Amino acid sequence: MSVIIEDDVMVGGNCGVYEGTVVKRRAVLATGVLLNQSTPVFDLVRGEILRATDGQPLVIPEDAVVAPGSRAITQGPGKDWGLSVSAAIIVKYRDAKTEGKVQLEDLLR
Ligand SMILES: CC(C)(COP(=O)(O)OP(=O)(O)OC[C@H]1O[C@@H](n2cnc3c(N)ncnc32)[C@H](O)[C@@H]1OP(=O)(O)O)[C@@H](O)C(=O)NCCC(=O)NCCS
Repeated sequence: MSVIIEDDVMVGGNCGVYEGTVVKRRAVLATGVLLNQSTPVFDLVRGEILRATDGQPLVIPEDAVVAPGSRAITQGPGKDWGLSVSAAIIVKYRDAKTEGKVQLEDLLR
């Protein structure tokens, strides 16, 4: 499955976007975000978890601002050992503050 990055997306440094992922217009991937079709994305604003489903890619919504995070393992040895795994988190949707940062990035590149 392919990777599609639509227009006006900002991809921060050290990001990786791999097979089975669609990043919709004007989304912002903060430094270090990793996405592939196995990555669940936790949307704090809309209160939903986005995933790829059979034959359908993972879709990052338009204007989403995605940051790298982690989530606790809640069962089995991972829980006993206090481990967590990495997670992608939609922390907000693009606003005036984001615009300022994105424009600055454009100027610097
Ligand atoms: C995403 C980014 C543009 C900031 O956007 P923003 O709209 O100004 O985001 P805000 O500062 O309003 O942050 C919103 C929330 O997300 C968190 N957050 C923002 N960027 C984050 C990041 N990179 N990692 C972890 N959390 C982040 C903030 O802490 C904040 O959470 P809080 O309200 O609980 O404190 C910026 O963090 C970023 O990653 N820029 C890319 C820099 C880069 O890699 N440049 C490439 C050089 S080659």
